[in-house]
Amino acid sequence: MKRTVKDLAGLKGRVVLVRVDFNVPIDDAGEILDTTRIVNALPTIKYLVEKKARVVLMSHLDRPDGYDVRKSLWPIAMLLMKSLPCSVTFCNSLVGDEVKARIKAMSEGSVLLLENTRFFEGEVECSMKLSREIAKMGDLFVNDAFGAAHRKNASTYGVARVLPNAMGLLMEKEIDALGVAIDNPKHPFVAVVGGAKVKTKVAILRKFIEKADTIIIGGAMAYTFLKAKGVNVGASIVDKDSIEVAREIMQYAEDAGKKLLLPIDHIALSRSDKQRVIHTTKKLGGDLVGYDIGPATISLFKKEIATAKQIFWNGPMGMFENSYFASGTHEIAIAIASSKAYSIVGGGDTVSAVNKYKLAEKMSFISTGGGATMEFMEKGSLPCIDVIQEKAL
Ligand code: 3PG
Repeated sequence: MKRTVKDLAGLKGRVVLVRVDFNVPIDDAGEILDTTRIVNALPTIKYLVEKKARVVLMSHLDRPDGYDVRKSLWPIAMLLMKSLPCSVTFCNSLVGDEVKARIKAMSEGSVLLLENTRFFEGEVECSMKLSREIAKMGDLFVNDAFGAAHRKNASTYGVARVLPNAMGLLMEKEIDALGVAIDNPKHPFVAVVGGAKVKTKVAILRKFIEKADTIIIGGAMAYTFLKAKGVNVGASIVDKDSIEVAREIMQYAEDAGKKLLLPIDHIALSRSDKQRVIHTTKKLGGDLVGYDIGPATISLFKKEIATAKQIFWNGPMGMFENSYFASGTHEIAIAIASSKAYSIVGGGDTVSAVNKYKLAEKMSFISTGGGATMEFMEKGSLPCIDVIQEKAL
């Protein structure tokens, strides 16, 4: 069993470096569009504040190429100032003398947020030079960044190799919930997978074929599967390099006797039609491009969801950012939220959709990870979890 923050004794006055995943959508005006990850990181931060530790937070935001003011964590610092009952300060650096001085000046039970870790050389490469520099600033390291636990970066992995460490409460919660869902699922288990890229979902689809009873495929990736089945998908976006693997996945499901459902109708637009007439069609062809699942597919998927005792959902059913193509994702979200099954939702876009439709409260578990959630469910662990110390016996 891995050590958690609750196993750490004598926290008063100690500098605890906490890696969180504050990689959240922020618009050009600096408004945070989805606070799920920040809200979920608060229990660990508050616990450490109550224990009178000096809490130094680190996170990445997006994938910047060097310093970029639009990727600064400053808007998040402002939100933390409103959300935490203690002093919160922000420093626009990650390591160096200025940071050290700030940490030295911190009072017990206060919080300091450092700047986007990905602005700094060595973070993504997990350089041990940067890892040691970060480690030198603290007494202990707590990793609560479940969403980034598949990334071997200096602030997630490297620093854990140098400092005594533990995982945070969110990391613990994610591991427990997702671990049970995949190792000991309730049956019937229905996995709903959407999104664009087949490549990133191949491993998890295989896992779901082993563990789930039904696999529902929607979103843009469904067109690659339909194409692989020999269905005419018109001008819909198909990932040509993944047609063969889609065929293999369908064969794997058939051999395992598992149900794999694909869309049977679509909401589509014709590429050449200047009027932009929206079609509901059972047959794509010509220059029609499918952007969402159609009403018959919604009924088919809903019927299957209604039979489930456990549901896992990752990936939108269509281009839901555009309201003309949102009904598939919206209806599936409603079906999952109103089901009595144990429902797990993971992935940035999917969680954003659930939040947009105000259905988050109705889901049993919302995972804060995207790629991390999928990789954890596939492999049962992640590099940044493996590197955390075991509990003392
Ligand atoms: C995520 O959003 O999935 C995590 O924050 C990791 O981000 P990354 O894919 O840019 O490493």
